[in-house]
Amino acid sequence: MAVTALVGAQWGDEGKGKIIDILAEKSDMVVRAQGGNNAGHTVVANGVTYKLRLIPSGILYNNAICVVGNGTVIDPAVILSEMDDLSGKGIDVSRLKIDARAHVIFPYHLVIDELSEKARGNGDIGTTKRGIGPCYMDKAERIGIRMCDLINPDVFTEKLRRNVTVKNEIITKIYGGEPVSYEKILADYNGYAKRLAPHVCDTSVLVYNAIKAGKNVLMEGAQGALLDLDVGTYPYVTSSHPISGGFCVGAGVGPTLIDSCLGIAKAYTTRVGKGPFPTELDDEVGERIRTVGAEFGTVTGRPRRCGWLDAVILRFAVRVNGLTGLALNKLDTLTGLRKLKVCVAYQKNGETITDFPSDISALEGCQPIYEEYDGWTEDISKAKTLNDLPKNAVAYLRAIEKAIDCPVKMVGVGPDRTQNFEI
Ligand code: IMP
Repeated sequence: MAVTALVGAQWGDEGKGKIIDILAEKSDMVVRAQGGNNAGHTVVANGVTYKLRLIPSGILYNNAICVVGNGTVIDPAVILSEMDDLSGKGIDVSRLKIDARAHVIFPYHLVIDELSEKARGNGDIGTTKRGIGPCYMDKAERIGIRMCDLINPDVFTEKLRRNVTVKNEIITKIYGGEPVSYEKILADYNGYAKRLAPHVCDTSVLVYNAIKAGKNVLMEGAQGALLDLDVGTYPYVTSSHPISGGFCVGAGVGPTLIDSCLGIAKAYTTRVGKGPFPTELDDEVGERIRTVGAEFGTVTGRPRRCGWLDAVILRFAVRVNGLTGLALNKLDTLTGLRKLKVCVAYQKNGETITDFPSDISALEGCQPIYEEYDGWTEDISKAKTLNDLPKNAVAYLRAIEKAIDCPVKMVGVGPDRTQNFEI
């Protein structure tokens, strides 16, 4: 396995959790490099359910070292409650390592996330309201408070005082909100700092040494390529870099150290939040996919928008990530649909568009050009190899490979970790 980067190839929620879980079992180290508790997945292992947001799922297996890298943003209350939940279920969390440079989320970030979304009215982004964007804003403004500051009481007290003063001006004067209490945050966060300090270190060194020692390292992506701050559907994106390059920046490793990059996609497309979505289905087929595929957010519970598979998007994901393979999830959700459609290009103003537009105003009004395939009715949930799939399902997979010029290497046929096979 060596060093494998695993990324979402669509708008997030591609079912990365299950694939991460399968690969994590074989890994010596699992690394998160971007985002925060806006991500979330549920893992069922040995009959016990674990809800993970920030802590890599390697924590459940094999004494793997789990790294939360410098590119992440950490809500200490959330990571501590995850740690407590895991400890309560008998998991050793001393293997969790948090980078000293990771930025810390504070209550004022959550308040500003909420108030700024409200102030945008109909133009809101549809964020998870976990304070992710405002925390990354502080990072870019170079006023952010990092884990190394949090565990250094003198530095922390001063930086926090300065930031709370500025943030309260913004909260009260720009948004008309209620100020946050410096004293309460200081007391709460000093408590968090004491508990988190033993986990804080330079994780870039840990990751580098593990790679040099020939260990199996899994880079665990959160969100998906279209939510990337730079190349995604801006402004309807998250504030970090879910593409494979994000691992280099967010885990402090060079690109030549990553051996392969597996993209995760669903056999159809979904998105949460706002923004254009060319293959969206506002009809009974979309409703059926949502119900059968249980397409409701893990973090927010919001119903996801559903549509046909978009190969233009997947080609974009292949390009921006340098994908070496695709794991196609939830093929079983499509069972029973008489016809399946794959969008191979868009049409707009008489023009055919084959590359995903860089500007969402160009994406707006794009009409999908579909290729149509016959569906299947057989139950595929117990398939273990390609030979177990109906011929129409295999034809669908092959059509996708051809349309995106990337091999499908894994197929998911149900929610359980056993309902997945390699090709
Ligand atoms: P934020 O990351 O909370 O700032 O939200 C920005 C955008 O990213 C919104 O459209 C969210 O719905 C979306 N988003 C963030 N995290 C995830 C995820 O894990 N899955 C799917 N969408 C996400």
